[in-house]
Amino acid sequence: MKPLALFYIQLLAATAYAQYVALPYGIRPKINAQKPLMDIGPVMPPSQQPEGSKQPPPQGGVLISDVMGRDRSINIFAGFTRDIASISSRLDDSSKNSTVLAPRNSAVEKLPRKPWEDPKDYDSLGANAYEGEDGQDRAHRNLRRFVEAHVVSASPWQEGEKIKTLLDGDREIWWEMKDGARVIQPDGIQVESIASRVGNGELWILNGVRNYA
Ligand SMILES: *[C@@H]1O[C@H](CO)[C@@H](O)[C@H](O)[C@H]1NC(C)=O
Repeated sequence: MKPLALFYIQLLAATAYAQYVALPYGIRPKINAQKPLMDIGPVMPPSQQPEGSKQPPPQGGVLISDVMGRDRSINIFAGFTRDIASISSRLDDSSKNSTVLAPRNSAVEKLPRKPWEDPKDYDSLGANAYEGEDGQDRAHRNLRRFVEAHVVSASPWQEGEKIKTLLDGDREIWWEMKDGARVIQPDGIQVESIASRVGNGELWILNGVRNYA
């Protein structure tokens, strides 16, 4: 079996895991023993939410790490965040706020190459760029950059506020309202929804992928 195939299997496992934690929480095994399972779930029944409100109510004791696996439309990206230790520990840390900009599965699938592939690696190393142990390390580094470019190191994040992502050397980004929807600038990516607002930040779902190159 080729090493790259192994990497795919890890990704598949991560995705399957995302679907697994999206099960009703009563069935979910204790992953984080300090947190009571009961504090996960809507604060108000849907009927009491204000009309036309697309934003979920804030959930204080819940962390981004708890809600990342809930929405199947982003489970590819959710799997990536769990593969990157520095990101998964940040999203599980109640003292560090983040705004996670999670691209929908369809946006990740539409990319001309996999998020861990870099044309420069193919230019310098050829078709075997991601084979062997070095190749896997290279793929992992590239994937980390991809994920870092989709995590803003603060929350709340105000409209027009220029801010850095976790990606070292990335340009600043901001968001603005356009035709009734939030748009991440300067990339011009539409925010489909704010999926969760929890104790250490917010999870936004994007209709596209940031240009991270
Ligand atoms: C972190 O996020 C929480 C929940 O949105 C908020 O109450 C708190 O003020 C934020 N802390 C900082 C330092 O921004």
